[in-house]
Amino acid sequence: HRHLTGIAHLARHEILYLLDEAEQWLALNRQRHKRAEVLSGLTIINAFFENSTRTLLSFEIAGKRLGADVVNMHAATSSVKKGETLIDTAMTLNAMRADAIVIRHASSGAVQLIADKVDCPVLNAGDGSHEHPTQALLDALTIRHALGLAPGSDLNGLRVTICGDILHSRVARSNILSLTALGAVVTVCAPPALMPAEIAAMGVTPSHDFDAALQGADVVMMLRLQQERMSGQFIPSPREYRHLYGLTLDRFGKLAPHVLVMHPGPMNRGIEIDSQVADHPARSLVTRQVESGVAIRMACLDVLTRRARGVPGWTGSEGA
Ligand code: CP
Repeated sequence: HRHLTGIAHLARHEILYLLDEAEQWLALNRQRHKRAEVLSGLTIINAFFENSTRTLLSFEIAGKRLGADVVNMHAATSSVKKGETLIDTAMTLNAMRADAIVIRHASSGAVQLIADKVDCPVLNAGDGSHEHPTQALLDALTIRHALGLAPGSDLNGLRVTICGDILHSRVARSNILSLTALGAVVTVCAPPALMPAEIAAMGVTPSHDFDAALQGADVVMMLRLQQERMSGQFIPSPREYRHLYGLTLDRFGKLAPHVLVMHPGPMNRGIEIDSQVADHPARSLVTRQVESGVAIRMACLDVLTRRARGVPGWTGSEGA
C-alpha cells in the first residue's frame, strides 16, 4: 500500500506486520536515548484540520525519534481560515515535497481525497466518523503487551466490549475492523440513537444494555460522546448516560478481576468512565495506550516511506 487510510484496506498479516514492527520502537522508546536515524533527511508534514493532543504529538515525536524533519500545520492558524480549499491545501503541501503527510480532518473521506492528489504516502490521523487506523493499531499492540503475548500473536478468542458513541466513532470503526481481523469476539454497546444501522454487518454483537454487554468481557473499551458530530440524535443527559452506559466504580467492581479497561482519550471523567477506574494502576491501560501510540506511529512512518527510500519490507501492492 502507498497510503494508510484505514484498517479496512489491511489484511490480517499486514496488521500483524505493523504491530510486530512497532515492538522494536516500543523498546527504543523505553531507553534514555530514544533515537534512530532511519528517516534522516525526510520531511514529514502533520496537517491537522481538527483538534488533537495524543495523535498530533505522538506523530511529531515518532517522526523526530526516527530522525525526520517534522512540521505541523494547524488549520486554525493556516490559510484554511481564509477559505483555501482542501484540494488547494493538499496541492500546496505536495509542492513542498513532503515525504509523508499525516492528516486529521473532521470530514469522513477527506484523507482519501488528499491521498489521491499528492505524490507521497498519506497517513490517516482520524477522518470524521470514518477511520482512525493508528488508534486501532496502538490499541491492539497495547492489548497484546498487557496480556504478555509474543510478537506475531493475534487476539484469537479475546472478548472485547466497546461502549459509547459507536455511531460517530472512527475509533470504534477502526477497532471493530482490526479486532475482528485479529480473531477477537467484539460486542458493541450504545444507546439506540448512537448505534449505526449497519452494525450487524460488521461481524460484532450489538447491545443497548451495558451490564449484559459486560458479561464475559476480557477487555472493556470506553468511548466518549462526540457532541461535535451529533446533529439532533436523542441521547440521555450526562447523568442518565453515566447511569446506563458509564463504567462506574460500582460496575467495575462487579467485573472479573482480570478485565482490562481502555479509553482512547480524551476522557470525560464522571460521564463514560469514573476516575477511579480510568486511573486504576493495574487494570487501566489508558497511559499504556499513549505509550504504544508513539511506537505504532514510528512503525507506520518507517514502513510507509520504505518504497521511496528503496527499502523492502512492505506488501508493495498499490492502492488503498
Ligand atoms: N485518541 C485520540 O485520537 O486523541 P487525540 O484526539 O487527542 O489525538
